Amino acid sequence: MSHFGSYDDRAANFSWSIAEKELEYTPGGVINIGWYCTDRICENGSGDKKALIWEGTGAQSKSYTYNELRVATNTIGAFLRNLGIQPEDRVCLFMDRIPELYLGFLGVLKIGAVAQPLFSAFGEESLFVRLDDARTRAIITQRKHVGKIRKIIDQMPYLEFIIIVDHDRKKELREREIPFWLDDARPVEMLDVHPTKAESPSVLHYTSGTTGRPKGVQHVHYSLISQYLTTKWVLDIQENDIYWCTADPGWVTGTSYGIIGPFAMGATQCVQDIGFSAENWYRWIEKQKVTVWYSAPTAIRSLMKAGDAIVKKFDLSSLRHLASVGEPLNAEAVIWSQRVYGLPFHDTYWQTETGSIVISNFPGMKIKPGSMGRAFPGVTSAILDLKSYEPITEPGRVGLIALRPDWPALMRGYWKNPETYAKKFVNGWYLPGDRSSIDKEGYFWFAGRDDDIINTAGHLVSPFEVESALLEHPAVAESAVVAKPDDVNMEVVKAFVTLKPGFEPTDDLELDIMNFIRKKLSSLAMPQEIEYVESLPKTRSGKIMRRLLRAQEWGEEIGDVSTLEND
Ligand code: WT7
Repeated sequence: MSHFGSYDDRAANFSWSIAEKELEYTPGGVINIGWYCTDRICENGSGDKKALIWEGTGAQSKSYTYNELRVATNTIGAFLRNLGIQPEDRVCLFMDRIPELYLGFLGVLKIGAVAQPLFSAFGEESLFVRLDDARTRAIITQRKHVGKIRKIIDQMPYLEFIIIVDHDRKKELREREIPFWLDDARPVEMLDVHPTKAESPSVLHYTSGTTGRPKGVQHVHYSLISQYLTTKWVLDIQENDIYWCTADPGWVTGTSYGIIGPFAMGATQCVQDIGFSAENWYRWIEKQKVTVWYSAPTAIRSLMKAGDAIVKKFDLSSLRHLASVGEPLNAEAVIWSQRVYGLPFHDTYWQTETGSIVISNFPGMKIKPGSMGRAFPGVTSAILDLKSYEPITEPGRVGLIALRPDWPALMRGYWKNPETYAKKFVNGWYLPGDRSSIDKEGYFWFAGRDDDIINTAGHLVSPFEVESALLEHPAVAESAVVAKPDDVNMEVVKAFVTLKPGFEPTDDLELDIMNFIRKKLSSLAMPQEIEYVESLPKTRSGKIMRRLLRAQEWGEEIGDVSTLEND
């Protein structure tokens, strides 16, 4: 039996106090995610239960019980506190998926500091922009990533501590660099966990915006209430499950459902830091006897490509519940997974800002392949007309997804950017910036983003950022960056450029431009193609019409260009 039961019952009797009671949280009292994910599980008698099973490259492996998780997070918390890290100071986690990333995240939260996870594949420029915006005081990293920090350190006087978890004792440390070897540190049995309250800041996640710099999405400790209940009801994690979330904690799926939700439930989860291949993944499921698997459409499409035959080489019979997030999950992928694994992927929809799942297919519910499912009970939703912002009552018409901003995990602001934050709300609704329709039975059908942001393999890329990088190249006069369709990644980045006088549109130049921007952008944001054009379509006010170029790429109706021109 799933935890969820019937949708109608859950919706009729819903209150967030269900989660508050289960977590024994008293409104107004202390709530600290780090404590909930470790100490509380031990106090409830599960100290010896496995919390984290980890494998990295070169057959390295480690595992931690809940008591070991509790002590290790205490040890990291105490170390940071001894350095002088204060509550609300930003501490960045810049690591591959090694245990210290998971433990460090919770250690930071335990002392009331703000955890700022950043994807370890970021290059120095992407890193700098985010550390600079957050005025980050400490960064926890691995020696393989220190070089990137050294390149930008002079521009960051506020970054006082660069903590290296695997420092090579034979190598020299530079100014501000501090070694910290968790395995050699004296274990801290008892730590005074900082008494954070519901609205105390917890996590700062960076996400791409349409224009300007990436935005810091500010979450609070009370987010736990939604993250816990959605983990329980949507991911359906139960006592004896082995849970595998394939997302990196540099992104919100990897924190909300790769750390907070599962650990707050006292679940056993496994983490693989080896890289993707169908063989690796299936072997992992077989070896760990994974029961609940939370993944993403691009990975699922890659597995589809790898074929059916390879599936039969492995024993995947442990699998019990599958879910997906991050981009549109095509109907074919759901049908395929039902055929080859005997289980459908349950699509879930949410975003960095929502902090927790807001729309999903629930265990036991009828799945309509291609639909994102229904609103989480307790999340009031509507589809608004694109122009009037009035709720659309007839089923099937596309409009803006709108959510009443009253569930616990919704962001509390964009870091130092109240103007952009305010724009996310209209007539008492929070607008995620996506288009969808709802059918007669309340199922959401995703219809695309309402802005120009590109979602490639589940990663959001701001066209503005790519265009800005292109414009710095001496040959580029103008640029427009849009999504083009791709079998596996759904969307990839394509750039249109016009050249300055005196430059020829050659293949060599394209290569040169690519190499130039590669240094500025993360690999995720790199265009797959650069197309030279004589001119770019523009509105009368001179704004480049990305939507027109996008429509061309997708072979869609361009629609009424005269309205576009008046944009
Ligand atoms: C954007 C959020 C929170 C998970 C990781 C992404 C798109 C997310 C779906 C889905 C279609 C989806 C939306 C959303 N998206 N889930 N099930 N179907 N699109 O977090 O980086 O903040 O991206 O991803 O456009 O707004 P994110």
